[in-house]
Amino acid sequence: MKRYAVILAAGKGTRMKTELPKCAYPLLRKPMIAYIVEHIVNSQAVDETVVVVGHKRQVIQDILGKSVTYALQEEQLGTGHAVMVTKPYLTDPEGDTLILPGDMPLIDDQTIKHALQEHHDRRHDLTIVTTKVDDPEGYGRIVRNESGYLEAIVEHHEASFSQRTINEINTGIYVIKNSILFEVLDKLDNNNLKKEYYLTDIVHILKRSGHVIGTYYLKESFKAMGVNDLYALSIAEAKLRLKINQDLMIKGVAMINPETITIGQNVIIEENVIIHPNTYITGNSVVKKGAQIGPNTEIHESIIGERVVCRHSLVYNSVISEDTSVGPFAHLRDGANIGPKNRIGNFVEVKKSTTGKNTKASHLAYIGDATIGENVNFGCGAITVNYDGKNKYQTHIGNDVFIGCNANLIAPILIEDNSLIAAGSTLNKNVPKGSLAIARAYQVNKENYLRDKKSTNGEE
Ligand code: UD1
Ligand code: CA
Repeated sequence: MKRYAVILAAGKGTRMKTELPKCAYPLLRKPMIAYIVEHIVNSQAVDETVVVVGHKRQVIQDILGKSVTYALQEEQLGTGHAVMVTKPYLTDPEGDTLILPGDMPLIDDQTIKHALQEHHDRRHDLTIVTTKVDDPEGYGRIVRNESGYLEAIVEHHEASFSQRTINEINTGIYVIKNSILFEVLDKLDNNNLKKEYYLTDIVHILKRSGHVIGTYYLKESFKAMGVNDLYALSIAEAKLRLKINQDLMIKGVAMINPETITIGQNVIIEENVIIHPNTYITGNSVVKKGAQIGPNTEIHESIIGERVVCRHSLVYNSVISEDTSVGPFAHLRDGANIGPKNRIGNFVEVKKSTTGKNTKASHLAYIGDATIGENVNFGCGAITVNYDGKNKYQTHIGNDVFIGCNANLIAPILIEDNSLIAAGSTLNKNVPKGSLAIARAYQVNKENYLRDKKSTNGEE
């Protein structure tokens, strides 16, 4: 028996009032829909995931890639209609299908696992996951009869005044037997205020035909929070941020002013790390023992070694090895790979370059497309001239090289070990081992120049 998950992500998200399709919106720099797929995978309870896409579907497909199957809903005619288009993909008639909305980023793997388990163990035809919330505005209400059995789900818009006081709501998570799913979907109509095919209507239809419908009650209601507008997105993000930061602090990561610190869900931070205010660490980043990050630092998809100090800086897709200091105001990007015990100081940009140990670029430098050895001093204002307007070229610098201030190294260029580049030089030729390279105009002093000039102006 196969277990499927269907995620509904074809909607525009009209209430977001912006361009991006709703399910692509990020929390802690990761799209909503990616959380859901990840939790499904982690639950180990689902064999195949089908995502219903429609509005701006390429955006969703770019996020999830080949990890899931896509079903296309050309026109968004409602949540019931969205499930209909998955018919060709849910091929096992004996299977169960878990249906989830794509705007529920706080859901976790345990809820997914337990909902499927409960549905199976209790032999339900349909299981609805419900929860109770303080403010049920916008959610479908769970209407029960006097004996407490589920009667119907009534959408907020359709609910009577008394039904609106019900605070048990439909989370939008369902588990249903494939053997009845498409049969019941065929019976849906759109005779309602929104003129949509509501998935929620399957409840009273199945009820009438005598099917076994059960509910699975989710205690922690925040996990089922639906994000319909940008305010809700900020609340969901704040909850997630708080949870991640709490877990990290308990594991020995110190945070100064934690409410200003954003750590992505896939980030690994070892103990004895100190994170200062206004810092973002996101993507699949790793921060090793004893590092100090921030304040005002962004690290994305990067590895930060032990005891690194990184202040007021941007680090994207890069590696910083142990005992190196970065910043303030440094920018490392696109595969910068900084060796141990380096110093990458004020206003230094490093792109697609590697450095060996003990190398320093302490101020105002640009290092792009370069490999730099050990014990190199890259002087203030020195730059690799890597781009001629069309192509990028490589700079190779050996070990124990001293690059004087304001040098321009016009790539492609090789500077061998133990060389010294005089300040202000503009080099366009390779420098052999152990050389002093000077490439600048000689200084000319025109003596008494000032006095002569003044006298011709008649100023004396
Ligand atoms: C839905 C439920 C409501 C529940 C709430 C939980 C219905 C009719 N209502 O309301 O009972 O309490 O979720 O959060 O199901 N979508 C499509 N195609 C469509 C329409 C929607 O793929 O034609 C997708 C959306 O992209 C979204 C999800 O389905 O990810 C839910 O749609 P949304 O409009 O947010 O439903 P709600 O009004 O929140
Ligand atoms: Ca919703």
